[in-house]
Amino acid sequence: MNSISEKTIGRLSLYRRILGELAQKQTQHIYSHELAAMAGATAAQVRRDLMPVGYSGSPTKGYGVRDLMDSISKFMDAPCGQSVALVGLGNLGRAILTYFAGRRPNLTITVTFDNDRSRVGKAFHGCRCYHTEELQKVIAQNNIRMAIIAVPADHAQSVADNLINCGIYGLLNFAPISLRVPGHVYVEYIDITTSMEKAAYFTRRAIERAKSGKSA
Ligand code: NAI
Repeated sequence: MNSISEKTIGRLSLYRRILGELAQKQTQHIYSHELAAMAGATAAQVRRDLMPVGYSGSPTKGYGVRDLMDSISKFMDAPCGQSVALVGLGNLGRAILTYFAGRRPNLTITVTFDNDRSRVGKAFHGCRCYHTEELQKVIAQNNIRMAIIAVPADHAQSVADNLINCGIYGLLNFAPISLRVPGHVYVEYIDITTSMEKAAYFTRRAIERAKSGKSA
């Protein structure tokens, strides 16, 4: 498989989301420069990103919205779907489960784990919660290779270690720590605090610029 950058994959996901919204509005075709404007990219960037996807539109009509969406899905998604485990069914874990339920038919959170016995055995959005003692067995039974970590920071490394020992290759980590993982494991971090602070900083910069009458 040729290596594709994380940024390209991120943009392909964004293009697909935009195309999904266009399809809902019955838009049939879109030109690369239009898609680029909606995604905050350039037309050249869009065309470059779509090269590995293997779909080229028509010079006169642009890209077929549904065809391009299908091609991106074929490129990005696992052919038989992908099951994901969620560890930590607290406030954030439940919010993730609620948001993601039914959103992507072939990328599904199928099992959850917690070490709080009051949650174990219950189902949230059709997803059963298991005790972390059952991690090995349940992950193997469900052929799961990716997991989301939503436990307190001081538990996140040991949870990650256990998951990797159970055969997990990819982690989406919400806990505010940097994980030590072997080279074969991919980790994606999400940190709303950093994003908030970034937004707050650039908001202040924007206000200062507006007050001094300068543009960006
Ligand atoms: P919470 O306290 O509501 O939930 C944590 C859950 O993890 C509980 O159900 C607890 O029983 C479980 N848990 C604790 N240790 C465990 C272990 N070793 N194995 C399995 N389950 C375990 O906390 P909340 O608010 O849901 O936050 C969870 C994590 O997400 C924290 O690390 C928090 O800092 C982080 N967070 C990150 C955000 C982001 O944008 N990245 C936003 C909000 C929270």
